[in-house]
Amino acid sequence: MKSPFRSTLNGIAFIASVVFAGGRTAQAVESALPHLVQQDGRHALIVDGAPFLILGAQSNNSSAWPATLPKVWAAIEAAQVNTLEVPVYWEQFEPEPGKFDTTLVDTLLTGAREHKVRLVLLWFATWKNGSAHYLPLWLKRQPELCPRIIGKDGRRIDSPSPHAPALLEADLRAFRAFMRHLKEADAQHTVIMVQVENEPGSWDTVRDFSPVAQKLFAAPVPVELLKALGKESRTGGDWAAVFGRDADEFFQAWSVARFIGQVAAAGKAEYPLPLYCNAALRDPLTQPAAGSYESGGPTDNVLDLWKAAAPAVDVLAPDIYMDDSAHYLKVLELYNRPDNALFVPETIGSPTGTRYCYAALARGAIGWAPFGIDSPHRTIDAPGGTPAGEAAVNPIAINCRVLNPMMREIAQLAFEGRLQAAVEEKDEHRQTLALGRWQAVVTFGPPTGGYGKNPKGNPEPVGRLLVATLAENEFLVTGYLCRIDFKIAEAASGAQREFLRVEEGRYENGVFRPLRIWNGDETDWGLNFGSAPQVLRVQLGTY
Ligand code: DGJ
Repeated sequence: MKSPFRSTLNGIAFIASVVFAGGRTAQAVESALPHLVQQDGRHALIVDGAPFLILGAQSNNSSAWPATLPKVWAAIEAAQVNTLEVPVYWEQFEPEPGKFDTTLVDTLLTGAREHKVRLVLLWFATWKNGSAHYLPLWLKRQPELCPRIIGKDGRRIDSPSPHAPALLEADLRAFRAFMRHLKEADAQHTVIMVQVENEPGSWDTVRDFSPVAQKLFAAPVPVELLKALGKESRTGGDWAAVFGRDADEFFQAWSVARFIGQVAAAGKAEYPLPLYCNAALRDPLTQPAAGSYESGGPTDNVLDLWKAAAPAVDVLAPDIYMDDSAHYLKVLELYNRPDNALFVPETIGSPTGTRYCYAALARGAIGWAPFGIDSPHRTIDAPGGTPAGEAAVNPIAINCRVLNPMMREIAQLAFEGRLQAAVEEKDEHRQTLALGRWQAVVTFGPPTGGYGKNPKGNPEPVGRLLVATLAENEFLVTGYLCRIDFKIAEAASGAQREFLRVEEGRYENGVFRPLRIWNGDETDWGLNFGSAPQVLRVQLGTY
């Protein structure tokens, strides 16, 4: 018998699977490999045949060791994430040229399976935050094989040269071995994505000015780049002639991206998991001059260039450490493109920072992960902003405990563009969202428990709300320290909002199971969310 509580989302999921099977992605569905799909400019990461949402966290850099992993697993459990992002160190993986030590990778696989989480592995190799500190010892001892780049003043810079064939060959060979091992050791796809290098590019110089680089800089810009940027008419021009004031940075970005693109392609040929590169950002609003931020990485101004230079890299992903909405939301906008799935692989895990998870999901993000999960000071010890009377919660768990049980549904809704979010601003306690014939009014602050007592905001802007449109008059809502009410968008109609039914419940195996119906005080003043994880299915009508 059809349950009266059956979610309309079941219908949505069914339609989507038909679209998958019938469209250009049909072949991908047959494969059990994690992969990305794109439809109408939106993206999904398919894991085990359905959209998957990375509700993740990243470990600290030096934590992927047996001595430190117990603390990481404990933190993962406390935060209730479903995915751990964790490094694989080239210096550990290839202790001698051509000899690969897979023990740490295997330890990670075993640990993740025991803790029932997925992994995103980070290939710390030629570039780590613009430097080459993770090169194996045997390579560091041969500096002629891995030269540093040279600044304009002739100074040696602590950043690897992208014009070093022996280094490229060595990185490529190791990455290939790493991916080959994953293919052999991970039939169940515990690893769902791999990051190639880490925040590549160079600090302290906009580009390499070594003799070899100077020669390339004076040579014609590669035609494939000109084509990709719609500049074929400039064929034959050198970098300065074609790109003017952008020439130094574009040259560095092309050089770095070409190198990484080759490493990525070699690994992908072994085992075609989704691959991504992360970016240390430039200011997305002021767009400062090149040279004032890490140069050559996938910053927002060179995304087209990176796409052309490194097609084996599926996603260019922003590491967002900006804790103000104007910057944060602008970055989300810039990296969310039809040719680029939005994925935030590193960000702030503080009580205020974690509210942006909802903003990312509303823009269709395939994942979102705060950095430094095993450092309490980065996340857990910072419950600031919790109002009196509300329990302090691990800030990352605020999102995960409510989203994880319905992760598949949220991923599907994000893929279909049905999500919207409101995140609290410091001095702005009220926001409205346009939901078709409805307008949602969201106010921030702990529940006030009375009519006319509008919330006055939280001590810190930690409030967040996520709403999914299930049908014209039906919504799925969750929130934290906020309140939502609805009104008819067409004010002149005179129609008033009526809550036909408000069910609090949870998803089980794709079906929404109500726990209770909210009514009376729980609905008469709008729908109030405190710090408890609550999910509501709301059916609206008018009178
Ligand atoms: C960004 C890098 O990608 C991370 O590996 C780490 O170094 C953080 N910055 C800073 O802690």
